[in-house]
Amino acid sequence: MFSYILIAVISYLLGNISTSYIVAKRIAGVDIRTQGSGNAGSTNVLRTLGKKAGAMTFLGDILKGVIAVLVSRIISNMLGVDTVLASYVAVIFVVMGHNWPVFLGFRGGKGVATSLGAMTCVHPIIALSCLLIFIVIVALSKYVSLGSVLGIAASPLMMIATGNRAGFVVALFLAISVTYTHRANIKRLFKGEERKIGQKKQ
Ligand code: G3P
Repeated sequence: MFSYILIAVISYLLGNISTSYIVAKRIAGVDIRTQGSGNAGSTNVLRTLGKKAGAMTFLGDILKGVIAVLVSRIISNMLGVDTVLASYVAVIFVVMGHNWPVFLGFRGGKGVATSLGAMTCVHPIIALSCLLIFIVIVALSKYVSLGSVLGIAASPLMMIATGNRAGFVVALFLAISVTYTHRANIKRLFKGEERKIGQKKQ
């Protein structure tokens, strides 16, 4: 049990490293949460500070998901616990750390890039299938939020299709958390008020 708690704590702390917050502070000296949509994520950095900063944020948020899972593997191998279960703990807690970071007053991002990075290490085919769904939806609709929610929401279905019960629970967590963090986006989508990609104003 100690091993899993250790992995959860390390993953949560890794998730707290907010790439968008760091990038926006360094480039423009602003708190990204006071700009654009107010979200500490790559879409908001893209609309507020441009493509390069947006790409850096996206990659940084993916990377911390990857690192959390890799660290969980090292710890699980060292302490002799189940590697897959350890990876699942890492996925859940790195996303929680990203979405609700204690060091930023529990106001973080929406968990899309971090979920992608972490899940790519554990279930690459499912994660990349979700990415494909995301890309197609964003290309057609121009709504990043719609692609994010539907892309991740597809993951529990894929887990069911592969008969992976533990994976289903993790994917369900990701689907519920991404829906929750996008609740304001979803309301705007229904009202026809959601920003399209690159659009700065409502
Ligand atoms: O991943 C976040 C994206 O889906 C929506 O971001 O800034 O438009 O709320 P934003």
